[in-house]
Amino acid sequence: MSNVSKKFSLDKKIVVVTGGSGLLGRTFSSAVAAAEGLVIVADRDILTAQQVAEEICTSYPNGAIAAEIDITCKQSVLRLIEYVHEQYGVIHAVVNNAYPRNSNYGRRVEDVTYEDFCYNLGVHAGGYFLIMQQFAQYFKSQGFGNIVNLSSIYGIMAPRFDIYQDTNMTMPVEYAATKAGIIHLTKYFAQYLKGTNIRINAISPGGIFNHQPETFLKNYRNYCSNKGMLDRSDLVGTLLFLLSDASLYLTGQNIVVDDGFSL
Ligand SMILES: NC(=O)c1ccc[n+]([C@@H]2O[C@H](COP(=O)([O-])OP(=O)(O)OC[C@H]3O[C@@H](n4cnc5c(N)ncnc54)[C@H](O)[C@@H]3O)[C@@H](O)[C@H]2O)c1
Repeated sequence: MSNVSKKFSLDKKIVVVTGGSGLLGRTFSSAVAAAEGLVIVADRDILTAQQVAEEICTSYPNGAIAAEIDITCKQSVLRLIEYVHEQYGVIHAVVNNAYPRNSNYGRRVEDVTYEDFCYNLGVHAGGYFLIMQQFAQYFKSQGFGNIVNLSSIYGIMAPRFDIYQDTNMTMPVEYAATKAGIIHLTKYFAQYLKGTNIRINAISPGGIFNHQPETFLKNYRNYCSNKGMLDRSDLVGTLLFLLSDASLYLTGQNIVVDDGFSL
């Protein structure tokens, strides 16, 4: 392997992916194993996490294990860190990717109650904060670490509400507040962690194709450069870049991957 391709390989790095059972999480987890890392598929939904890990291991033997985590519970986050440390003695990176929300999530602004707004902002921003805070503590004790936060284009721009016309979809107001907060927390932690050999960056994806209504897909595509809604696999290159040594001196940054939607 050349020195350049070696920099892009994960080369046995131990990477925790929270929300590893979900839409993006399973793609991210599998990509880590494909890049020769070892992934901990960490999710509140442990049964699905186990299935995801087993599937990954059929293609990449010993490339994945599953573990339970609730990112909104400090004890659970600490248990996960302790468990992975016991197994491997090291954690190179965490991908802060879970997506907590309650069953009232996704309503139009007029219908969002104060309680639901506070709850959904709390579990999402608060859960991401706990992961950053607790992993940063662990990373400090081992002398290095890498955190990748999942934000969104809706953390950097106002929604284009016209794309939701004639659908029952909307862009949740709690999501906008949370994702903007996560980009800012990325900078906050990068600044706070200077000199510790811990870096932290964010990825802000555009919309990911998941069988949305055709009207919406067409409206969305009009704002894009080439493709429109992206596939999950379109995010993998950016994730692996951030996890690998090829981005060693990148910190406090937010990389937007959206086919030009937010321009
Ligand atoms: N899908 C998209 O179009 C898109 C676009 C931009 C950004 N994102 C971001 O990517 C991330 C992943 O999104 P997704 O679409 O894969 O979501 P998803 O709903 O498909 O998966 C989320 C996963 O998180 C898990 N989870 C929920 N609450 C948890 C908790 N408290 N502790 C641990 N795990 C928990 C769920 O069990 C699920 O497996 C989110 O931050 C989301 O905002 C997604």
